[in-house]
Amino acid sequence: MLVFNERKAIVSFLEPLIAQKKTIGFVPTMGALHDGHLSLLDKSLKENDVTVMSIFVNPTQFNNPEDLEKYPRNLESDVSKVEAFNKNVLIFAPSVSDIYKNNVTSENFDFDGLENQMEGKYRPGHFDGVGTIVKRLFEIIRPTNAYFGEKDFQQLQIVKKMVEKVNLPVNVIGCPIFREKSGLAMSSRNERLSKEAKEKATIIFKILKAGKKYFEEHSALATQSFVEKEFSKHQDFKLEYFDIAEEKTLLPCIRKSKKKKYRGFVAVFIEDIRLIDNIGL
Ligand code: PAF
Repeated sequence: MLVFNERKAIVSFLEPLIAQKKTIGFVPTMGALHDGHLSLLDKSLKENDVTVMSIFVNPTQFNNPEDLEKYPRNLESDVSKVEAFNKNVLIFAPSVSDIYKNNVTSENFDFDGLENQMEGKYRPGHFDGVGTIVKRLFEIIRPTNAYFGEKDFQQLQIVKKMVEKVNLPVNVIGCPIFREKSGLAMSSRNERLSKEAKEKATIIFKILKAGKKYFEEHSALATQSFVEKEFSKHQDFKLEYFDIAEEKTLLPCIRKSKKKKYRGFVAVFIEDIRLIDNIGL
């Protein structure tokens, strides 16, 4: 299996394939791979001639230095996982200096307000970091199709907006959230949870499902209070936000409209680990 650690090397490798009009599927990740990532790879392998996965813990998208430091990293085990899954995947695992030279900073983006909601409110600068790295990776890999999980639904909408604004020739494809049997959304951060916390964290999806049902008969505001009350029954959890927002604009739902699609978004701490999830309403 081919693993590239330098941007120059992967650019030279891909150049002739792009010239031959091969389709390139791309799955960007920060490693600590789980079955959710593999499901993105699976889709890419089925839909493209060539599939590239990047593994890069991007420093500019972490607003909290401790979070960056503690982010799980294990390139060797990630490479083995991908190799066991499919040897044809090309891995791109560059160093920070290869991507950022000696200027580890973000570009400033205008995502038409998508960046001001939810994650953007609580993680200042996060989406500028995401936009910066995804744009750089797209410029290096030049993918035809790029695959993103809907667990980071706001990120998915932001990447779509970035591609539209910068005018990059990439189809950004959102893929459904991959869950454990228990309902817990798969996330690299789950690796940091104790066994007990991982079990307790299954209530996140249970509450989201209850919220979805409640929303059928009640307003967004009432549903928000309902969900907040449900979380308050669980002492181990610290709810950061539960918001109901319109899928496209991510603006909060004030009055329900049958013409619009809504989602419930949650960020919650357990054992000081921040987990996010969402559900279509
Ligand atoms: O979702 C992630 O893992 C990251 O935000 C991404 C898209 C790989 C950018 O660093």
